[in-house]
Amino acid sequence: MKRNAEELLTFILDTISNIASVHQQEKLLHELSKMCRDIVFADRCSIWILDKRHHTLWTKVADGVEPISMDASKGLVGNAVNDNKALIINDVQNDVRFNNAIDKKTGYLTQTMMVIPMENKNDEVIGAIQVINKKEDETFSKLDLKYLTLAASYAAETIGTILLLEEIDKTQKELIYIMGVTGENRSKETGFHVKRVAEYSWLLAKLYGLPPSECERLRDVSPMHDIGKIGIADAILNKPGRLDDGEMDIMKTHAKLGHDILRYSELPLLKAASIVAYEHHERFDGTGYPNQVEGEEIHIFGRITALADVFDALGSERVYKKAWDDERIIALFQEEKGKHFDPHLVDLFLEHREDFFAIRKEFADV
Ligand SMILES: [Fe+2]
Ligand SMILES: [Fe+2]
Repeated sequence: MKRNAEELLTFILDTISNIASVHQQEKLLHELSKMCRDIVFADRCSIWILDKRHHTLWTKVADGVEPISMDASKGLVGNAVNDNKALIINDVQNDVRFNNAIDKKTGYLTQTMMVIPMENKNDEVIGAIQVINKKEDETFSKLDLKYLTLAASYAAETIGTILLLEEIDKTQKELIYIMGVTGENRSKETGFHVKRVAEYSWLLAKLYGLPPSECERLRDVSPMHDIGKIGIADAILNKPGRLDDGEMDIMKTHAKLGHDILRYSELPLLKAASIVAYEHHERFDGTGYPNQVEGEEIHIFGRITALADVFDALGSERVYKKAWDDERIIALFQEEKGKHFDPHLVDLFLEHREDFFAIRKEFADV
């Protein structure tokens, strides 16, 4: 199977214009892998990413197999990555380096293979592109290797960028979560509280009909609702008895404090977190704090986190109170519908209460 020069040019132009129109990362990776597969008429293509810290290789995209990870020094891909050298093998089954575990698992027979290591801009190997089985039982040629090398170098750049963006995203989320836990720890809450609030918020956002990306975002930032508590004195924060009015006023400043800590960030994630910190004590009827905002003027992130936070607080045991039973919690939400909480959110919560109880059970304090 070969293409003449004109066909090859058409293939490349079509592929590039295809890829240029894809904005979603997941889809983009699939397009890149398709390009590598089709440019050499291979049956399958996998994009392998090197995890240096754990010395593993894992599949970011793989035809026909679930994502897998394996020891980075094993198999033909491990070999290519370790030596930073492309491989072209037309008798895979008889190659001593071949690890047939995946074939065994999937019932697929690998016969021919090419592997091209991918490098980032600093010439560090970040993974490899692997194509398997040239179609119509043919073997891969030197020209195929050349084409694949070309496609791989094009793909590597994009993949490198995607990995970097994912890393930044992951770092941001981790930082936010740690900050959230820090805020809660100061007031002797458990880390599970923020975890549960995150999950309840995500579910409410989903039931409310927010787009998936917004649901994810809220899940990431709702643990930050009490970050402002890092600015409240210990004597008040952990006072064993009830707070007097003056102390209560100080306690209430945590909403604005949290907002102030985060408000100047340009990061979309922190901007969203600042909304949650600011508005999680506002009430639907306008009698909350700090700004007595009312109804749908309260950002949906604020309205959702308010419900999630209270639901979790009521159902958990604290130093100063026992956990409420479910009947009492349900009664409170019915009573506070349209007062403390967005009535529509209360309906969704009550209708799907079992799902919320399931989350509570899954992330219960130990
Ligand atoms: Fe709070
Ligand atoms: Fe909380």
